[in-house]
Amino acid sequence: MEAMRTQSLSLRPVQLSDAALLQELFLKSPGYFALIGMEPPGLEDVIRDLHTLEKDPRRRAFLLFLEREAVGYLDYKLHYPGAEEATLSLLLIREDRQGQGLGQRALRHLMESLVGVKRLYAVVYGQNPRAKDFFLKEGFRHVKDGGPAVSWYVRTLRAGPDEGLL
Ligand code: ACO
Repeated sequence: MEAMRTQSLSLRPVQLSDAALLQELFLKSPGYFALIGMEPPGLEDVIRDLHTLEKDPRRRAFLLFLEREAVGYLDYKLHYPGAEEATLSLLLIREDRQGQGLGQRALRHLMESLVGVKRLYAVVYGQNPRAKDFFLKEGFRHVKDGGPAVSWYVRTLRAGPDEGLL
């Protein structure tokens, strides 16, 4: 366990050429897709989604590597809903790697890198108590339910110069 903690975790922007790698990651995480009532996406779907992503300059998608192994994926939108806000739509850790602290490390890594972003939202789809617990534990609070299958969470990222005492 000790050795695992010292393994380095890095985020690399997803490229079209990563489609097969990303689809493999999804295939190895069937529990999440069962939870949201979907089939894991096929390669064509992943390629289409990556094309869509490329067209939106605010969307950012990263593969998460533990040393050289792809162990996760995350996808967020900058300047959304507000100018100084961002919204995380998916943080996924490969199923066989869940519960080992990687999600926590990845999220903290992301939050540190979001310079200039004051609030980070997380949109949780489906009945996903694990994700809800995870975000609450990471300092998010529940904001609202956008219908029966979507819940929004939010947390402040860092106090700006004028907000230190708030
Ligand atoms: N049951 C309940 N809570 C859990 C569990 C579990 N099985 N596993 C982790 N947690 C909670 C715990 O509070 C844990 O704290 P601990 O240190 O006291 O155990 C904390 O989360 C951090 O645990 P990590 O090991 O970092 O969690 P993990 O690496 O598994 O990442 C994540 C959490 C991202 C939810 C992961 O399990 C996952 O990818 N799940 C499937 C995809 C998914 O549902 N993603 C979230 C969608 S919503 C969104 O991304 C905005």
